[in-house]
Amino acid sequence: SRKVILDVDTGTDDAVAIMFAALHPDLDLIGVTTVNGNVPLENTTDNTLRVLDWIGRSDVPVFAGLARPIARLDFPFDKHFERDSGNDPHGSALPIPEPRSTRQDTGAVEFLVETLRSATEPITLVPVGPLSNIATVLAIDPALTDAVDEIVIMGGGHAVTNVTASAEFNIWADPEAANMVFSAGFRRLTLVPLDATYQALVTRDTCARLEKSATPAGIGAARFISRRIDAYDGTVTTAGAAPVHDVVCTAYLVRPEVITTRRLHVTVDTTSPLTVGRTVMDTRLGSTQEPNADVAFGADPRLLADLLLDVFTSVIVR
Ligand code: BDR
Ligand code: CA
Repeated sequence: SRKVILDVDTGTDDAVAIMFAALHPDLDLIGVTTVNGNVPLENTTDNTLRVLDWIGRSDVPVFAGLARPIARLDFPFDKHFERDSGNDPHGSALPIPEPRSTRQDTGAVEFLVETLRSATEPITLVPVGPLSNIATVLAIDPALTDAVDEIVIMGGGHAVTNVTASAEFNIWADPEAANMVFSAGFRRLTLVPLDATYQALVTRDTCARLEKSATPAGIGAARFISRRIDAYDGTVTTAGAAPVHDVVCTAYLVRPEVITTRRLHVTVDTTSPLTVGRTVMDTRLGSTQEPNADVAFGADPRLLADLLLDVFTSVIVR
């Protein structure tokens, strides 16, 4: 099975992605690194521990990473767009019990550097939060990209944005880090922006079916996704459904056809006050810029729902 490291800012959709990666038989989740993002680092780390305990995977090691962006002096916590809309689909604590242990091994950056350096087989990196940890790893040793067969990033937006009129939250939260990652020369970089995740909305009906499965993952996913639908419903999406951004990345790992991609050049604006954090995607036909990413512009909501139900409602004996 494919060796995977998730880098998360858990959050309700990160939580669904963690459960998917931890439970799918084709994926070997060898560690989870946490970063400041949706909520402060102590909360993203606590939430990550809660999720793994909740599904009986407390064997997966968790490593806390950066509490701040790599360059911006202060992180505008209160700017997160969901809070602006008065609905917070995350909240600081997930609606599941406290973790039984506050186990946390050495730092995320040390774990990533050591694991990539000693890798004997390719590792897939799946960052679904601000890219502060990944950029720091690259600053320590740019050659570590050689150990990565594919980096699959949730972030960015072309026709769709959220935290500002120009930008998507993960990229906006640490734009310098994002630029370092996009220009690092990864063998394969797949980017799943809001343009794709907003096409794979998850409905209340799917939540009800997840809940009915009465498995920890099914109940957890139903709670996390319902919280998102309550927050988004009527403000950001059509009635009765919400995007679950991060899990599209883990679903892609096992069923690539859940997204459709275009190969093009992506870079990030790190300077303009109006457009800082914007992913500038060169979609021009005949563009001469060397592509550096496979960018998803399409996603299949039915296939995603089927994958969630398949992974979360069957009690997998590991
Ligand atoms: C991204 O930001 C967070 O709200 C989600 O966890 C997702 O990773 C979407 O912009
Ligand atoms: Ca996230």
